[in-house]
Amino acid sequence: MTTATLDSTPVQWSPTLGLEMPVMDDTHEACIDLLAAVVEAPDETLLSRWALLIDHTQEHFDREDQWMLDTGFAPDNCHSSQHSIILQVMREGGKRGLLGELDLVRHMAYELGLWLANHIQSMDAALALHLRSAGFDAVTGSVSHPQAFASEAIHSCGGGSCDTSPGEAVQTARC
Ligand SMILES: [Fe+2]
Ligand SMILES: [Fe+2]
Repeated sequence: MTTATLDSTPVQWSPTLGLEMPVMDDTHEACIDLLAAVVEAPDETLLSRWALLIDHTQEHFDREDQWMLDTGFAPDNCHSSQHSIILQVMREGGKRGLLGELDLVRHMAYELGLWLANHIQSMDAALALHLRSAGFDAVTGSVSHPQAFASEAIHSCGGGSCDTSPGEAVQTARC
């Protein structure tokens, strides 16, 4: 990747990212908007926009993690673990940004966009399928088909598309 691409967002919302779950789709669209705001930010507002993205991502991931706990996933399932790693990386990026490494934050934002598109289309898509098969109502938290749950707690991402590699975004923050 060249730095020439870092001032344009690598992901834009489109119906192809929709998962037939309005609450989830609205959250993903808002996340992509916040990510674009970071990628396009001047230096003066980069870190404040990054902080807003972290807050939104915390709520986004907490909601999905809770849905998983409510529908038969183990607390340490790989989808939730990936959420945890990404948030850790984003917070590390914020700290590094405060030390003056703004290019690192920009690089991370770009990589996060690539990761997000993949995550939506793999782990989140599997989760949405699981929730729909269970008749889960994201607004009320009710489950109309509990018989669809596995007999044992689910440790994988639940959809056969388990990808435990968060990609270059993690490497960026850890180098
Ligand atoms: Fe998500
Ligand atoms: Fe997710």
